[in-house]
Amino acid sequence: MNILVTGGAGFIGSQVADAYIEKGHDVVIIDNLSTGRKEFINPKAVFYNADIADPSVAEVIEKENIQVINHHAAQISVHDSVKDPVADANSNIIGTLLLLQHAVSSGVGKFVFASTGGAIYGEQDCFPADEEHPQKPSSPYGLSKLTVEGYLRFYQEQHGLSSTVLRYGNVFGPRQNPRGEAGVIAIFCDRLLKDQTPVINGDGEQTRDYVFVGDVVRANLNAIEQNSSGIFNVGTGLETTVNELTRSLLRIAGSDILAKNAPGRGYEQRRSCLDNKKIKDSLDWEPRVSLEDGLVDTYEFFKNHQN
Ligand SMILES: NC(=O)c1ccc[n+]([C@@H]2O[C@H](COP(=O)([O-])OP(=O)(O)OC[C@H]3O[C@@H](n4cnc5c(N)ncnc54)[C@H](O)[C@@H]3O)[C@@H](O)[C@H]2O)c1
Repeated sequence: MNILVTGGAGFIGSQVADAYIEKGHDVVIIDNLSTGRKEFINPKAVFYNADIADPSVAEVIEKENIQVINHHAAQISVHDSVKDPVADANSNIIGTLLLLQHAVSSGVGKFVFASTGGAIYGEQDCFPADEEHPQKPSSPYGLSKLTVEGYLRFYQEQHGLSSTVLRYGNVFGPRQNPRGEAGVIAIFCDRLLKDQTPVINGDGEQTRDYVFVGDVVRANLNAIEQNSSGIFNVGTGLETTVNELTRSLLRIAGSDILAKNAPGRGYEQRRSCLDNKKIKDSLDWEPRVSLEDGLVDTYEFFKNHQN
């Protein structure tokens, strides 16, 4: 198939592009390299250095005869979305709507969307949250993802554009950017390798559902192979506190540095954990990499790529 991966120079998108190419698909990547890196772009992909909102994207979709759009390009910082909700909406809502319009006019058959289970449910009423859990995002980032999910329903009903929404937990693994303000595992690996103190926001008892990037990539493969549309959580169903995570990383790194605490962030929920029954039943997906194995892999990656 001819697949467009937006954000294909980024942490997750680049590894999704690699996996599609490995399976024999023809992959086109659109990325503005705002956070993505050229060296992550698979040399077998056709690469366009462009913003998703650029008018040239319509021509690319038409010219490359795109059948599937896998949409990973986004403004990904919750913190920045709180500071500038308009910029977040321009990128994550308007940018995606433009893509959807191009998809319809070029006869694209399928749209896979990287959404968030970590930010869409807000403070959860029950644990783990399934896909029917009330959605009360506490940040503009979560709101923009939820808004796009609504538009996807509209495009499916109105234009017959089939879509698969993947609501990720906290994705971690090789290639994650350690210089952002999110991605605690990448940040802590980087700091430990520099003998710097890991800084925990709040008391460290907040929980997240950490899912390894290789497992997330498999969900993206299944999304196009199983031909089943809908909304699916992509998580482990397990909660881990930042304190537990820090202890594991210190052990793996063989470090005795003491982490310190900084004030917590009001817009981040206390606990997050995703029910994965629906994706197990419908897309034959379940996580295969344990947190411990994923942490070892991630730490090794950062050790080998310190520059
Ligand atoms: N990392 C996570 O834990 C997580 C969790 C839930 C959802 N997601 C979603 O997964 C997707 C990928 O996230 P990631 O963690 O790999 O982040 P990332 O920053 O590594 O990847 C995003 C990529 O998109 C590109 N990009 C950003 N805005 C663009 C634009 N307007 N036009 C073209 N390219 C643009 C960036 O250069 C980058 O290569 C995002 O949609 C994100 O919201 C990530």
